[in-house]
Amino acid sequence: MSDSPFTRYSKYPNTKDDLILSEGQLVNKRTKAPLLTIDGLPWLLNNPDLSLAKWRQQLRQFVDAHLIEIQKLENTKAALPSTRKRMDKTLEALRYNHAAFEALLSPILQMDGKYPEHLNLQFDLPKVHAYFQNIFRDWHWDTDENQKHLDFVVDSLGDVKFDRLFVFGAGAGRLSYDLHRRLQLTETIVSDINPLLALVADRSFQGTPLGLYDVPDAPLNLEQVAYRSQPTSIAKVDGLHTALCDISDNAFRSEKLQTILTPWLIDVVNHPLETLLFQCHRLLEKGGYWVNFGPLGYSDRYSTQSYRSEEIKELADQFGFKLVASKQAILPYMQSPVTQSGRTEPVQCLVFEKCSDHQFRWREHQPPIWITNIDEPIQLTSALQQKLEVAKTQYEILAAVDGKISINELAQMMAEHYQMSEDDAVESLLSFLG
Ligand SMILES: C[S@@+](CC[C@H](N)C(=O)[O-])C[C@H]1O[C@@H](n2cnc3c(N)ncnc32)[C@H](O)[C@@H]1O
Repeated sequence: MSDSPFTRYSKYPNTKDDLILSEGQLVNKRTKAPLLTIDGLPWLLNNPDLSLAKWRQQLRQFVDAHLIEIQKLENTKAALPSTRKRMDKTLEALRYNHAAFEALLSPILQMDGKYPEHLNLQFDLPKVHAYFQNIFRDWHWDTDENQKHLDFVVDSLGDVKFDRLFVFGAGAGRLSYDLHRRLQLTETIVSDINPLLALVADRSFQGTPLGLYDVPDAPLNLEQVAYRSQPTSIAKVDGLHTALCDISDNAFRSEKLQTILTPWLIDVVNHPLETLLFQCHRLLEKGGYWVNFGPLGYSDRYSTQSYRSEEIKELADQFGFKLVASKQAILPYMQSPVTQSGRTEPVQCLVFEKCSDHQFRWREHQPPIWITNIDEPIQLTSALQQKLEVAKTQYEILAAVDGKISINELAQMMAEHYQMSEDDAVESLLSFLG
């Protein structure tokens, strides 16, 4: 590597020292410590050791979940020949995918980390397998869904022109790749918090997309149960770079980016929109653009944070952004060509220009005093109180697991204890223990 955009845009996480290239490697300019990279992808997440430990644990569970299913299927007796066929097909697919993921993720899974996994006390871990289907939609399915998303974004941009793009929450990366080619961008940095998706994206950008079996959720017949899904042929293009980033990361230089795209992100991300706006404002050059594309399908629609377009515009205005283009459409979403399952979603694309160079302070999100000064007593704020309640409940559930109790039995206890319906208890147990 003789040049890297990360020396221009990024800093060394936590220490915020400059990054330089030394003998082809990104290193801390002051300490010469190498930047953590995974298969060449810069790991720009805050607290790299801790975030790596967190992801390694999650990825291990994700890969091992295949093994558990494989063992279950191997021990299943099938009465009907067609049921045996279904089991065998699924087994073949799971074995193949297991080996593919083990190989793809080996740079993380085999890495030693400083943090023992049980000390990883982060509560709000994004799930590895969330948006797993995006891999197939982006790089395998022969449908026009990606094309429609691309056309809509390009159309929404109107007269807005740029040649460098930074994408937060790019997922498996297809839209970023397509935009890079269609707009003939000189440089596109494609980032996501999830290493599985970032590695899949990068493989495709290199022209070698990951081969996998598609195992649909609700196949109608044996044909659809599992099929070897050939990735579409992808040309390697120059100027695309992949990195691991959280939208709240501090490892970026201010006012260096020309355009930031947040595709299908703001309604699922675990940070308030203010955090994203603060970041976009800080990172963009004056006159740069924030392009937000996607639906507004928040999980808690009654939350004050579940902003609709009017509120997004008002908030963006407070952060010195002016709306310069916008469009709405109904687009296909995850429409599998095999099972014909999928939905349509109302989406919008809002294009904002950064018009002010006022330096905002991160008011609402200043870390509390006991974080900046670790000798200060920690206050039990309502947010920490809530974590405590969640942890207590999780502890009680896990402590009741004795190798004999079933989800239904646990749900009955939970329903009684927490005065909730058994259906709700089953649902929350399935998501917690699943
Ligand atoms: C709904 S998916 C959209 C993926 C992709 N943009 C697309 O349109 O197909 C949301 C993406 O945001 C990523 N994400 C979630 N929280 C994030 C965070 N805090 N920082 C960066 N990316 C995040 C997820 O890993 C996921 O890839």
